[in-house]
Order: sequence, then C-alpha cells, then structure tokens
Amino acid sequence: MSSLVEEHEVVEQSDVLTVRGLTVSVRDKILVEDVDLTVGPGERVGLIGESGSGKSLTALSVLRLLPEDVHARGSVRLSGIDHDLIGADERQLSRIRGRDLAMVFQEPMTALNPTMRIGDQIAEAMLIHRTVPNRRAARAAATDLLGRVQLPGVARAYPHQLSGGQRQRVVVAIALANDPALLICDEPTTALDVTVQAMVLDLILQGVAARESALLFITHDLAVVATICQRVLVMYGGRVVESGPVHEVFTNPRHRYTQGLLAASDLDSAAHRLPTIPGNVPAAGNFPTGCVFRTRCPHATDLCTTTPPWTGPSPHGYACHHPAPELVTVETKQGKFEEVADG
Ligand SMILES: Nc1ncnc2c1ncn2[C@@H]1O[C@H](COP(=O)(O)OP(=O)(O)OP(=O)(O)O)[C@@H](O)[C@H]1O
Ligand code: SF4
Ligand SMILES: [Mg+2]
Repeated sequence: MSSLVEEHEVVEQSDVLTVRGLTVSVRDKILVEDVDLTVGPGERVGLIGESGSGKSLTALSVLRLLPEDVHARGSVRLSGIDHDLIGADERQLSRIRGRDLAMVFQEPMTALNPTMRIGDQIAEAMLIHRTVPNRRAARAAATDLLGRVQLPGVARAYPHQLSGGQRQRVVVAIALANDPALLICDEPTTALDVTVQAMVLDLILQGVAARESALLFITHDLAVVATICQRVLVMYGGRVVESGPVHEVFTNPRHRYTQGLLAASDLDSAAHRLPTIPGNVPAAGNFPTGCVFRTRCPHATDLCTTTPPWTGPSPHGYACHHPAPELVTVETKQGKFEEVADG
C-alpha cells in the first residue's frame, strides 16, 4: 500500500518516539484506544495506571511484539527510521529491535537464552547489529558491560547459575549494548527482591544517562516515577487520561482518576485525599462509553457519558469534564502556599 515516496520519506522529528492514534484490538474488543505518546531525546517518561489499563500493550505495540491475535493501528515512528513501525515487516523490525529500540521486561529468563553463556549472549547482541568490528571486540565490550552492571567474572556462566537480580542486570547490559536511542522498561524490578530492586533501577538510570538514551518506564510504583522520570502519562481503560511533567501531575492531578490513584498510593502529594479508588477495573473491552472512568468516579455526571476532550495547557493535559481544581503557588512573607486558582 505504501508508495515509493512514503518508503523513502525522511522523517524530520525532534522526538525519539512519536506514537499517534495507537489503537489495539483483539477481535471486536478494543483494548487500547487512540493513544498519543512522545519521548524526547534523553527524556525519561513514566507510564502508570492500574493493572489492565493497557500499559504493556502500548509498549508491545511500539516494539511490535503483540500476540498474533492482537492488532495495532495508528502510527509509531522512531527518529532516524524512515518507515512507520506499524506495518513494518519482521526484517525491518529485527534491524531496529536491540539496536535503536531496546527493552527490559519483568521476567529476565524470557529474554535470555538458557543454553548460551552470558558473555556470548551480550557479544551476540552487538555482532547481530554489527556495532562492533569483530568477535574479539564484542567479547571485550561484553566484559566491559558486565563490569558496568557490577557482574565482573560471570561471562562464562549460564543464566541458571545466576540469581534473578543478576539475570536482570545481564538483561540490562544486553539492552544497553548497542547504545539504543530508546529503552523501554516494563516493570523491570517487580519480580526482584526489594534489596536488589534499587540496584537494578540505578543501573538502568546510569546506563541511559551515560548513553543519552531516552527511557519509557512502565511501573505501578509511583514513588519510582517521582524519582526517575521527568514526564508521566497516566492510563486507564486503554486511554491516556492525563500527562505532563511529573511534579505537576503528582502535586496537582486534574483528572479524577489520577487524583484517586495518587491518593491510594503512599505518595504524600494529593491535595485532596480519597481513601482508595472505589470499585474494580472492568474487564478488557467492558469499559463504559464516554469517560472510561465514569463507573468508578465520585464526580461523574450525565455529561460524563460523552467522551471528554483533551484539555489543558501543553505539556500538562487531561481528559476530564469535571477536573480537580488547578492549584497555584502563592508566595507570602510566611512562605510558599498552594491554593486553588481563581479563589
Ligand atoms: N491477547 C489478549 N487477548 C485479550 N485480551 C488481552 C490480551 N492481552 C491483554 N489483554 C487485555 O488487555 C488489557 C490491557 O492489558 P495490559 O497487559 O496492557 O495491561 P497493563 O496495564 O500492562 O496491566 P499490568 O499492570 O497488570 O501489567 C487487560 O485487560 C488484558 O486482560
Ligand atoms: S470525565 Fe467525569 S467521570 Fe470522567 S473522570 Fe472526569 S468527572 Fe469523572
Ligand atoms: Mg503490564
């Protein structure tokens, strides 16, 4: 379907990743709808939302790793790549994955080959994409990378000889081996002991900073987002309901779902606390029409049966008919205070 003009189009974009109108469906069920998402060069962006909100499907669509019966439409562009990833063939995708676009998932064993030595797996990641001149250089680079993730001396080990935390550090080393423009992490520390979570997180942060790679970080842990991300997108019912700079979204959430999510977390940042978000997340494909949150929202009115438009000054935006009040910082002799805008 694509014309020659489209195939050789040079993409002028300042963002590393540009997702537009991403819609993911399985048979007649829509699982993710109309998601827009950008990640700038070197930017660290968090993606949060309760279980089932569509975070992983969004990431898997970018990577084009969706299950066979699940289909994505819309547009996914990476800077420097002259074609849309939606609609790209396996040959095109295998050139991009692991080179421009790398990923770390929750379970490290799914990313490792159990029959191959650790050092060889890292070297192979570079040789496949020809980012090193030869096997000798690849081995040397692998040893160096293992040192950087604080695993010196494990190059000859097999994955089963390592702990879960050590395996995930190997996966991080492989993901960073080719200096990707974008690293996508989907709950990379959830399966690990608390004691090693911080270490893996640190290695990811150091790794992206050293390479100036951008980071898309999916997590349930709002405190982690507050610590490592500059911008955050909040998903619910397969939609992005709010996005903006982390400090703004976390201190002055405007969408009622974000407000509930923050109040239910340990973060001491929600202005008006709700005890928890009442009710359960509906099953996939069973979200209400209009605002997807309206069956659980204490502020819902008849108007909420219609889809709320995206509002708010860029970069902080939200889709809610009855948003939480905007807070402004007021400075007096007694100090700085936050109060509701317009009285
Ligand atoms: N292959 C599939 N077929 C049908 N439904 C699916 C499929 N994969 C995912 N879903 C559904 O799509 C919804 C979104 O799934 P997704 O895995 O993206 O959620 P998530 O936000 O990553 O949740 P979690 O935080 O639990 O990882 C869920 O309700 C899930 O059950
Ligand atoms: S649009 Fe209505 S139902 Fe949805 S979050 Fe806002 S107030 Fe609640
Ligand atoms: Mg998930």
